[in-house]
Amino acid sequence: MPTRVPLVATKGGHWRRGDSFPVDGRPDTLRAHCEISLRTLETDRIDLYQLHHVDSQVPLPDSVGALGQLRQEGSIAAIGLSNVTVAQLDEALAVAPIAAVQNRLSYGDPGDLPMALACAERGVAYLAYSPFGGSAGPVPQAALTVARRRGVSAHRVLLAWLRRQSPNIVPLAGASRPATIRGSAAGLDLTDQDLKDLCAPAEQRTPP
Ligand SMILES: NC(=O)c1ccc[n+]([C@@H]2O[C@H](COP(=O)([O-])OP(=O)(O)OC[C@H]3O[C@@H](n4cnc5c(N)ncnc54)[C@H](OP(=O)(O)O)[C@@H]3O)[C@@H](O)[C@H]2O)c1
Repeated sequence: MPTRVPLVATKGGHWRRGDSFPVDGRPDTLRAHCEISLRTLETDRIDLYQLHHVDSQVPLPDSVGALGQLRQEGSIAAIGLSNVTVAQLDEALAVAPIAAVQNRLSYGDPGDLPMALACAERGVAYLAYSPFGGSAGPVPQAALTVARRRGVSAHRVLLAWLRRQSPNIVPLAGASRPATIRGSAAGLDLTDQDLKDLCAPAEQRTPP
């Protein structure tokens, strides 16, 4: 059986302070955040380090340049971006290799799908966050229908749908219980009938 190599990924430049969420993409701040992560994770190299949010006050090439420097020094193995557009991805790619983009995408909220496909064209992985629409997200009826017929959870159906959209999509399922983690890791091959049932237009997917 092949051994799965664990990949440690984390982000910098955006964090929570009480009720506020500051953004700071200055090179010195990103370096400081990376150093905190290295110490906290007790490692000398982070596999994937992501710019959590573009800072409108800092030119993107400066933020990405700082991550490129960390990569050259060996503190991080690969650079990722989060919450970006295609134009921002292209701007970043002109500065340093970008391994992954982490944006919000789910069956009920598929608006960022063109971005995932643009990433595929550029050889960039797309990490889909909030793949169930977040913890308070309603489960779409079509996913429940397929889940009932297949005898699996609707969450497994939603993850399988995402993976079917493009091979570069990696759903980032949030979970706080072993049972839900195991459920999300189980995988599912969707049939033609499943896909037919799931092909409702985007605006009809989220129940009122
Ligand atoms: N880059 C960004 O700006 C950004 C923003 C938001 C989120 N994220 C990341 O995205 C990831 C996931 O997003 P999210 O937590 O907002 O939303 P989510 O993954 O769409 O939803 C999480 C909810 O789904 C439940 N769940 C997970 N797997 C399940 C399963 N197999 N069966 C039934 N229920 C299941 C969890 O339950 P339990 O908790 O009970 O297990 C939790 O309530 C997190 O790692 C988060 O850090 C990134």
